[in-house]
Amino acid sequence: MIDYTPLYAQLEQLPLVGWLSQLPGQVAAAPEEGKHGRFPHWSTLLSNLPQITPSQVNLGNGVIVGQPGELLPEQLAGLVDQLKPLHPWRKGPFHLFGLHLDTEWRSDWKWERVQAGIEALDGRLILDVGCGNGYYGWRMVGAGAKLVIGLDPFLLYVAQFQAIRHFVGEAVPNFVLPLGIEALPENLAAFDTVFSMGVLYHRRDPLTHLQTLLGCLRPGGQLVLETLIVEGAEGEVLVPQDRYAQMRNVYAIPSVPTLLSWLRQAGFAQATVLDVTPTTVQEQRSTEWMTFQSLPDFLDKADASRTVEGYPAPVRAVVVAQRP
Ligand SMILES: C[S@@+](CC[C@H](N)C(=O)[O-])C[C@H]1O[C@@H](n2cnc3c(N)ncnc32)[C@H](O)[C@@H]1O
Repeated sequence: MIDYTPLYAQLEQLPLVGWLSQLPGQVAAAPEEGKHGRFPHWSTLLSNLPQITPSQVNLGNGVIVGQPGELLPEQLAGLVDQLKPLHPWRKGPFHLFGLHLDTEWRSDWKWERVQAGIEALDGRLILDVGCGNGYYGWRMVGAGAKLVIGLDPFLLYVAQFQAIRHFVGEAVPNFVLPLGIEALPENLAAFDTVFSMGVLYHRRDPLTHLQTLLGCLRPGGQLVLETLIVEGAEGEVLVPQDRYAQMRNVYAIPSVPTLLSWLRQAGFAQATVLDVTPTTVQEQRSTEWMTFQSLPDFLDKADASRTVEGYPAPVRAVVVAQRP
């Protein structure tokens, strides 16, 4: 059972106070111990992590906690044994007391591309929808955010977040709630910046997703949207027949002009493309901490510009837009 009372206390002082009447009930209703088979096991792992105050927490250049030598060699080996059962570790990397937790994704590379062009995060109230294990939330705090609330309904990622939080410390204002976007009350109009990264193409109705994100922002607030895109003119959208790069639940991959048009239709202003980058096999790959197949296995062996299904290989765009 995760204690969110420190978050609730902060919400009382913020324009999010309206959510407080529902939020504890929503968290309590999320599948937990008893309802989710492995959660009790993860809770035990989390409660047995070593109690140590790290000599440093550096969230500016990565997620770097403590230094080599701070844990005894047997404690460090034990830490590996405690964190490995939370496999697959997809988003990161994390550096814990000299342990390099090398995740499937170089999320730090994405963060560099994103952070380069967005409005400064200093003092901002931030929502990160589909935040995974909360990696970017730590980086947002490192960039000056006042409070980051991440949403992710996948409990393994919430458990990974709690493991990192154990070492970073509970005073750092980054929280991951075990909830999906559906849990957000309509038109909160509260957040200064809303992130939706790697989520849009998983939504059956992308326009509704964008309208929900718009409703979360205060007027003048900034949306940061990162998504797969395809080449093409306005109106072009790839709708995979089945899987895309072996991913299930990929419903629609727009061209950039289509994406900009969707943003306008949803009510956003000043939609601007910050970056378009093909995903490389250096950025997404199997590691010791994510031993399943990864991008190199999802690309056509004879033609790396296509996925194994014959679609264009993954290219991702970062777009910002404003709530008028
Ligand atoms: C491709 S990952 C992106 C993770 C991270 N934002 C990033 O860019 O690296 C998509 C995430 O959305 C989460 N997700 C799935 N359904 C969701 C929902 N209904 N609401 C919010 N997040 C959801 C998944 O658990 C997963 O962590």
